[in-house]
Amino acid sequence: MGFTTRLVALTFCAGIVLAAPQPAEWHFVEAGTSGILALEAIVVSPTLAIFFDRATNDPLTINGHPAWGALWNFETNTATALDLVSDSFCASGGLLSNGTMVSLGGNIPAITAAQDGRMAIRLFEPCDDPAGRGCKIIENAETLHLAETRWYPSSLRIFDGSLMIAGGMHEDTPFYNTDPVNSFEFFPPKDGGVPRPSAFLERSLPVNLFPRGFALPDGRVFMVANNQTIIYDIEKKTETILPDLPNGVRVTNPFDGTATLLPLSPPNFIPEVLVCGGSSTDDRIPALNLSSQDPATDQCSRMELTASGIKKGWQVEHMLEPRTMPEMILLPNGQVVITNGAGTGYAAVASIRDPVGNQSNADHPVLTPSIYTPDAPLGKRISNSGMPTTNIARMYHSIASLTPMGNILLAGSNPNANVTNGTEFHTEFRVQYLNPPSMSLTRPKLLNVPQQLDFNKKFSVNVSIPANLKATSIKVALMDLGFSSHAFHSSQRLVFMDATLSRDRKSLTITSPPNNRVFPPGPAFVFLTVDDVMSTGERVMVGNGASPPVADQGVKI
Ligand SMILES: *[C@@H]1O[C@H](CO)[C@@H](O)[C@H](O)[C@H]1NC(C)=O
Ligand SMILES: *[C@@H]1O[C@H](CO)[C@@H](O)[C@H](O)[C@H]1NC(C)=O
Ligand SMILES: *[C@@H]1O[C@H](CO)[C@@H](O)[C@H](O)[C@H]1NC(C)=O
Ligand SMILES: *[C@@H]1O[C@H](CO)[C@@H](O)[C@H](O)[C@H]1NC(C)=O
Ligand SMILES: *[C@@H]1O[C@H](CO)[C@@H](O)[C@H](O)[C@H]1NC(C)=O
Ligand SMILES: *[C@@H]1O[C@H](CO)[C@@H](O)[C@H](O)[C@H]1NC(C)=O
Ligand SMILES: *[C@@H]1O[C@H](CO)[C@@H](O)[C@H](O)[C@H]1NC(C)=O
Repeated sequence: MGFTTRLVALTFCAGIVLAAPQPAEWHFVEAGTSGILALEAIVVSPTLAIFFDRATNDPLTINGHPAWGALWNFETNTATALDLVSDSFCASGGLLSNGTMVSLGGNIPAITAAQDGRMAIRLFEPCDDPAGRGCKIIENAETLHLAETRWYPSSLRIFDGSLMIAGGMHEDTPFYNTDPVNSFEFFPPKDGGVPRPSAFLERSLPVNLFPRGFALPDGRVFMVANNQTIIYDIEKKTETILPDLPNGVRVTNPFDGTATLLPLSPPNFIPEVLVCGGSSTDDRIPALNLSSQDPATDQCSRMELTASGIKKGWQVEHMLEPRTMPEMILLPNGQVVITNGAGTGYAAVASIRDPVGNQSNADHPVLTPSIYTPDAPLGKRISNSGMPTTNIARMYHSIASLTPMGNILLAGSNPNANVTNGTEFHTEFRVQYLNPPSMSLTRPKLLNVPQQLDFNKKFSVNVSIPANLKATSIKVALMDLGFSSHAFHSSQRLVFMDATLSRDRKSLTITSPPNNRVFPPGPAFVFLTVDDVMSTGERVMVGNGASPPVADQGVKI
């Protein structure tokens, strides 16, 4: 079969079939079009993700108007419109402990088909139909809304299965956050629905949109905005100031770098954060003095979030190239893929001195992903050896997510206000997967995985391990695939579980995470990696599946 024929055949096949004829290397594979611009993405079932865009002129329509929400089907690589009421432009989202997806905040719409989304709460209840038939977004602006108007907020699932919602702005500001919402709130609400003012958000102005936050294994939350970092204690309502990012590097919108919590491992689940890319530009320079040609930073900063780790401070390392708006995706084997972004410029649309092709504040898209190996020695962790190069720019308003098949979904990029065609940085509808080498090999399989996992429990599953694998290394990862938007993958999490392989290689005895702080309760996928060959993910409900807030479960560590 010729190269062209093979690509065409692959395009029309389901994700699992993509494995067939390729050598065991990383591959980009194009697969269909997203129908709407994929500005936000979240995996909501083994076969479905949701994309959100701005209410604008997207080609996919529903009920006689352009759609701004769509279900992406991993089996057919097609998009089906969802009918939303309010404008989900630059909103955030996550999954609750009961499996419901929540989309939060948004903007004042540019088209009459949509309503003001700034206080919106959009629910998508757990969907059992593989194609999403009958599954829909529920909104009710009267009975279900945020306490404050929030555009560009972020949200993350916390230890009681609720979402913590942070920051944003009240309305349209051209570049910097000049109309900030410097507070936290929760869904379902805490404190009688009264938002909590945040000194941290105040301090991190004017580059604090989409603050990057992670639930730590003790239930507190690490946050980074601009070059400032804290640990916030949700129960005590206190913040502890941590060291600033070194060398003037700033990582939140509109100077988007990205951040992730590195994989947590038993027995101690010691948290470490990795913060990469963004810009070291002075945040007092007026937007019109900034250039799309200003270099981004190649800096990654990493810190262990223990008393001794914080005392030691940030450890600096460098990517192979500068990146603004990168994404970091955790892989089931514990490595991190760094993808997307641009070598110069900033986030946001047409707000600086010299936007390029046509309204992009950024230029020089980075087209080759890198891979970060957390346990390699400093200076040897980042490599792009064996990584393919794409010709599709993924800059502002693009997404990346691990899928249940174990590959990386890439979509979007629209540094323009509306759907724009025929320009250099046009609206990008082509969807791609970045397939890891495992997808070209015979993969191990997890069998009869229970649908629900209690905390701190030993359980057994059957496995099928290809005969050619020696099984010298066995890793079992419990993963939240997170919510992707604006170079931030909120709620993304990997917790390794202790696992012992039976002598007949047919079963694994696994120990679930000790408690709901190590893994906030909610939907997850379990992946098995045998000698670096990864299985597909099996969906589980972690915890009892009750609606938030749920009580502490399991044992303290
Ligand atoms: C962080 O940014 C602020 C405001 O621009 C600046 O005053 C401070 O020196 C920066 N911190 C570091 C470590 O560069
Ligand atoms: C911004 O650019 C203008 C015009 O070039 C210049 O006069 C001004 O000093 C610059 N301001 C800053 C803060 O760089
Ligand atoms: C280029 O951008 C401007 C606004 O910045 C817009 O008016 C114009 O229509 C755009 N051109 C194209 C071809 O999209
Ligand atoms: C985007 O499209 C909307 C609706 O068609 C229109 O009102 C608005 O002016 C457009 N904005 C730009 C910057 O082209
Ligand atoms: C963009 O323009 C090209 C050339 O006119 C056309 O073939 C293509 O379908 C357009 N794409 C979209 C998404 O409208
Ligand atoms: C499941 O594992 C048990 C214990 O190792 C083994 O006896 C049994 O044959 C396995 N079943 C399958 C379907 O592999
Ligand atoms: C999950 O909890 C939320 C918040 O209370 C609620 O709105 C939603 O309907 C619940 N979903 C299920 C499936 O119980």
